[in-house]
Amino acid sequence: MADKVVLAYSGGLDTSVAIRWLKEEYNLDVVALTIDVGNERDFSAVEQKALKVGAVKALVKDAKELFVNYFIFPALQADAIYEGQYPLATALSRPLMAKLLVDVAHEEGASAVAHGCTGKGNDQVRFEVSINALSTGLKIIAPAREWGMTREETISYAQRYDIPVPITAASPYSIDECLWGKSIECGVLEDPWVEPPEEVFTWTKAPDKAPDRPGYVEIGFEKGIPVTIDGQKLDGVSLIMKLNELVGKHGVGRIDHLENRLVGIKSREIYEAPAAVVLLQAHQALEAMTLSKEQIRFKQKVAIEYADLIYNGLWFTSLHQDLAAYVKSTQRFVTGTVRLKLFKGNCQVVGRKSPKSLYSFGLATYDKGDEFDQSASLGFIHIWGLPVKTQAQVQLLGEAEGPLSIMKPKRR
Ligand code: ARG
Repeated sequence: MADKVVLAYSGGLDTSVAIRWLKEEYNLDVVALTIDVGNERDFSAVEQKALKVGAVKALVKDAKELFVNYFIFPALQADAIYEGQYPLATALSRPLMAKLLVDVAHEEGASAVAHGCTGKGNDQVRFEVSINALSTGLKIIAPAREWGMTREETISYAQRYDIPVPITAASPYSIDECLWGKSIECGVLEDPWVEPPEEVFTWTKAPDKAPDRPGYVEIGFEKGIPVTIDGQKLDGVSLIMKLNELVGKHGVGRIDHLENRLVGIKSREIYEAPAAVVLLQAHQALEAMTLSKEQIRFKQKVAIEYADLIYNGLWFTSLHQDLAAYVKSTQRFVTGTVRLKLFKGNCQVVGRKSPKSLYSFGLATYDKGDEFDQSASLGFIHIWGLPVKTQAQVQLLGEAEGPLSIMKPKRR
């Protein structure tokens, strides 16, 4: 009996060809594992296809709940956004897939696992770093990195072995989807000057075709986790699915990112992430109300680190555990409701409230009821400005340069 390999199987061309290729090149029996992270699809068709193409076993695992609770929501609480733009959809799904691959490999007594990534992207790194963190002695095979076939050659390989070529193989785009967003690359998108053609977008309506009336949505958070939409309690998976639909209709959630990959390449990436975009925006709006200035400043630095470690495949590390503990602590009072206005591709926060709000009407108001002691500002300004005044007199007034040369006293 041949050894077994567990392959992360999407049902697409590359991983279908990989089933045959792993048998031919490595004489391995393939167990195809398809992981449902909210990439809506006919999973029983995917399962049938794996078997038809030659897998000895095909498994489908619904991982949506795990994905939301262990990956998406912690990243949301951290405000993790890569390079200020990318909510990290694909990047977050990979360590989860690695975990399930390793589990199934152990259950099946397989000696190897395989994935469909090429040698140019981040996903190969995320998969393999995570797999190696979670297991010892599992061989990792990356057929698409090894076989050296072009797209056309892969298609003729498929035809030679009677592997159905999906119509999507004719599409020039490389697409990856999960609950937290859709990633689109390749084709004309590789020219950063070309506007993305409308056909690449399937989750969001074109902003100019979006409804002529604004939509409103209220998102309720408990300790940094979204729990209600318009007052209705929802589990995490349903909440994200519902928001993707509701927000996408208004054309909100399109991202055009010229991104720095871990492997040194700059690449142009298009994302659609309606739920992620509004949840991140709403979450930060609520933090603005419930965290101190210093907490927010420090947390912004942590957010950058957190996003980088997700992007760079370092999910299963102690640094992550440490940062997650900090983030969790910051969320104790991030409870409340944010109201957002959606209109033709735009999303604006138009209201927020919290039982633990640090916003004080009595301090902020210019009207009756003002509790702020304005006379105290005099002493405050005196002390605050003391070092400024000292330095200006000793060092700057005579010798200031650049934009500060305007400080020099005018000669009469
Ligand atoms: N650039 C994004 C990332 O590295 C998206 C990758 C999309 N992956 C894919 N296999 N199409 O996370």
